[in-house]
Amino acid sequence: NEPETLEYKLVPHRDFNLISGIHCPEEVDEIQNWEIRDSDIFIITYPKSGTIWMQQIMSLIEAKGDVTATKDQMNCVGMPWIELAGSKKDFVSAPSPRIRVSHLQYKFIPLGLKQKMGKVIYVARNPKDVLVSYYHFHKYASMLETPEDFDSFFEKFLEGKVYGNCWFDHIKAWYSEGDSMNFLYITYEDMIQDLRSAVDQICAFLDRDLTAQQKESVVEHSTFENMRKNPKANYQAVSSSLLDHNKGAFMRKGTIGDWKNYFSVAQNERFDRVFKEKMKDPSLTFVWDI
Ligand code: A3P
Repeated sequence: NEPETLEYKLVPHRDFNLISGIHCPEEVDEIQNWEIRDSDIFIITYPKSGTIWMQQIMSLIEAKGDVTATKDQMNCVGMPWIELAGSKKDFVSAPSPRIRVSHLQYKFIPLGLKQKMGKVIYVARNPKDVLVSYYHFHKYASMLETPEDFDSFFEKFLEGKVYGNCWFDHIKAWYSEGDSMNFLYITYEDMIQDLRSAVDQICAFLDRDLTAQQKESVVEHSTFENMRKNPKANYQAVSSSLLDHNKGAFMRKGTIGDWKNYFSVAQNERFDRVFKEKMKDPSLTFVWDI
């Protein structure tokens, strides 16, 4: 129910861009002190890496594949972003298991996670497709600045002048600290190529005992086509003051390799150089196309 006139802008806070009107710096700093339960689950992503996909998978795993049990509320209501202003109140009072989502950098996380309380699922996606998806999202999301054109957004992304900041810093910090947490690293591309195996992996990590049939149902109701038709999974109902549904959709394309339709040869070469330089350590590989 946000007023239509709200103005949003990126505001740096401890070298991380928050969005005014959506995030509150003091509350973000307070997250470190949140009390963590062993049953807590945090889905961590850089924006546009498959966050809402993992939300849908998680809601179905918790419902043992029963899509009718997940119909009542949008996934973002049951699994909200912790960095949103006012999110603590609900976190404190919610019953277990609490499933939460975040795009924050590692340095902001609840300290309990570093003491191996709770569980963290980090979903990563190849950054070329992240960039293209984010470019489109900037046109769709009212709280983000509409890009002048693809070329200028390309530069902005590489400079980290977006929400989430530098993709390389985000993934490197989370991944390198993985051993200090109960941590599952999974990629968007793994999920595209074999969603059933990804569901097996997630269930094993979370100690969720689903039958083969229940897992099949999780897979079926998490496909791009089925999520696109499912109002609680596709976020079509999010207020138009946040998302301008005439200009885009969360469920946009859902593929690997769309970057090839946008990157020039020179941009691609440059991106590869930056990737090689920044991702030397840790050495992470990605599927760039299929
Ligand atoms: P595209 O813009 O490339 O289509 P996030 O939820 O982190 O914002 O990520 C959104 C991206 O995940 C979008 O990418 C969206 O289409 C994709 N996505 C969401 N659900 C998906 C699914 N079931 N299968 C494949 N891609 C999905």
